[in-house]
Amino acid sequence: MTTIGTPLSPRATKVMLLGSGELGREVLIALQRLGVETIAVDRYDDAPGQQVAHHSRTITMSDPEQLRALIEAERPDLVVPEIEAIATPALEELEAEGVVTVIPTARAARLTMDREGIRRLAAETLELPTSPYRFCDSLEELQAAIDGGIGYPCVVKPVMSSSGKGQSKIDGRDDVAPAWEYAMAGGRVSQTRVIVEGFIDFDYEITLLTVRARGASGEVETQFCEPIGHRQVGGDYVESWQPHPMPSIALQRAQQIARAVTENLGGQGIFGVELFVKGDQVWFSEVSPRPHDTGMVTMVTQWQNEFELHARAILGLPVDTALRSPGASAVIYGGVDAEGVVFDGVDKALQVPHTDIRLFGKPESFVKRRMGVALAYADDVETARRSAVEAADRVTARAD
Ligand SMILES: Nc1ncnc2c1ncn2[C@@H]1O[C@H](COP(=O)(O)OP(=O)(O)O)[C@@H](O)[C@H]1O
Ligand SMILES: [Mg+2]
Repeated sequence: MTTIGTPLSPRATKVMLLGSGELGREVLIALQRLGVETIAVDRYDDAPGQQVAHHSRTITMSDPEQLRALIEAERPDLVVPEIEAIATPALEELEAEGVVTVIPTARAARLTMDREGIRRLAAETLELPTSPYRFCDSLEELQAAIDGGIGYPCVVKPVMSSSGKGQSKIDGRDDVAPAWEYAMAGGRVSQTRVIVEGFIDFDYEITLLTVRARGASGEVETQFCEPIGHRQVGGDYVESWQPHPMPSIALQRAQQIARAVTENLGGQGIFGVELFVKGDQVWFSEVSPRPHDTGMVTMVTQWQNEFELHARAILGLPVDTALRSPGASAVIYGGVDAEGVVFDGVDKALQVPHTDIRLFGKPESFVKRRMGVALAYADDVETARRSAVEAADRVTARAD
């Protein structure tokens, strides 16, 4: 049975978010609605989630000593990673010592923090279909991997990176050296390892939100949300919609893959399983053991959005993954490099029927930084997509 204490009292149920961006902020709000005391951690002050949590802490989360000291001082009931760049070995130690529960598990956080751990698990241990791949530590190794079977076109990514950083497509021999240089400049930490993947000429790609939560029997059960379609530009999501129509055999395969990966990673919570689909064929791409950026659309499409599902699942509560309406999301970019920007056109955006807006409150804007998202619902996904894009276009940021 789940018990929840009173926030700010000695019996409070305390949850610490490691990473407090726009996704973390929504998880924090969902937790607070259930009477949980929240601690928002990020690497900079006034991160979106810190603006809504009971407590804010700013540390370098990739530093194991700082991370351990903070967790030991705060003693949260649950630690919830929101980003990948965390000292996950320290989390594994703390979990093994019984100091804290990590969501979904410390092992899942470690395996998904770089592309190698999760890819080897999916392709080699679980034998799930993926693109052909190789890991390389130099330009020579990269060229040899391509010549030795990966072929052209292919995609190169630093093993430690997200949101398309350092990622590029290689169409022929002339692209190899520039792709290597680009990956070296774009990795999260200074390291030289990349993955090169054969390019999958998919019809579309989806995120299959998969929830591991306690059902009425008390056992952890797996539930799926409707597939989310999305469009990526340069490896970063710009638009998503739900549901994405799929042939039933492809959907079945997608669910089988998602179940296999998430059961292996274990624990409780939501996972964003990324899959490529061509006809009835499905490939596993990657998985986030946490809410997914393309899943922001669920704020307008589901009775319980992905953040509420995560909050419920991690607290041991039942979940409802049912769709409420078809809908779409479109990203609002900064468009300008400046601190403390001002947004114009929110009123105009909300004049588009059946739309809503989230502005994340990030203290600093960059041209390509995600500063907000427009949401729209409609009877069909096409109408919702048009409305979301229209609403997003009407919002602009400027330096004051
Ligand atoms: N092997 C591939 N074949 C075709 N497209 C790919 C491949 N790998 C990545 N992509 C495209 O790039 C996007 C980002 O790649 P992904 O591996 O998900 O990186 P990130 O961790 O930055 O999200 C994918 O959603 C897909 O659109
Ligand atoms: Mg991805």
